[in-house]
Amino acid sequence: MGLFLSFEGIEGSGKSTQARLLAESLASEGYDVVLTQEPGGTAIGERIRALLLDPAHTEMCPAAELLLYAAARAQHLEQKIRPALARNAVVITDRFSDSTVAYQGYARGIDRGLLDSVDAVATGRLRPDVTILCDLPAEAGLQRNREINKRDRLELEAVAFHRKVREGFLQLAAAEPERVRIIDAGQPVDAVAADVARIVTERLWALTK
Ligand code: TMP
Repeated sequence: MGLFLSFEGIEGSGKSTQARLLAESLASEGYDVVLTQEPGGTAIGERIRALLLDPAHTEMCPAAELLLYAAARAQHLEQKIRPALARNAVVITDRFSDSTVAYQGYARGIDRGLLDSVDAVATGRLRPDVTILCDLPAEAGLQRNREINKRDRLELEAVAFHRKVREGFLQLAAAEPERVRIIDAGQPVDAVAADVARIVTERLWALTK
């Protein structure tokens, strides 16, 4: 039933570029591809995204933040991801539940058991078939985003916060190495894209067997 892929990584890891390149390449091979993002991907999700990322909302408490990400995800699954998978599409999402574990769990310090319960409400425990982790030191990612002037509410957090996010992603990959595949995002864009293509092609082959 379709293929569900997610891209994860810290700010400035280049995951959005890689998600787009993969979507273009699979579409050119004739696959039905849905490229989407979190928070976002639906009209409701995009409004929640604006609330979450507005740098003016410095008063947002961690619980509100967690529930807003979960609300956007619930709508995203219901309205976009599950219908696409049901018609056998390849769904590529720029971030999914692993971001909640890394940001709201490892970096904000919300208990993992609570996160998993909230996530279960949003996802019914649906997990991507493959998650590509674009890994990069926090300083390098933040520097890339400063160069393009991308500064939303979470990007404005201290570098220590982003180091914890990276560590969280790496621990997720260590816990689920089959699903979460680490890629060195410090390489040139086309070298990263080649690594992504290798992983995804392998998985598509496995599906046709
Ligand atoms: P981005 O898509 O431009 O990277 O922005 C999304 C921001 O939201 C990014 O800072 C990571 C953060 N985020 C969370 O903190 N938790 C989540 O569950 C998701 C999906 C994103």
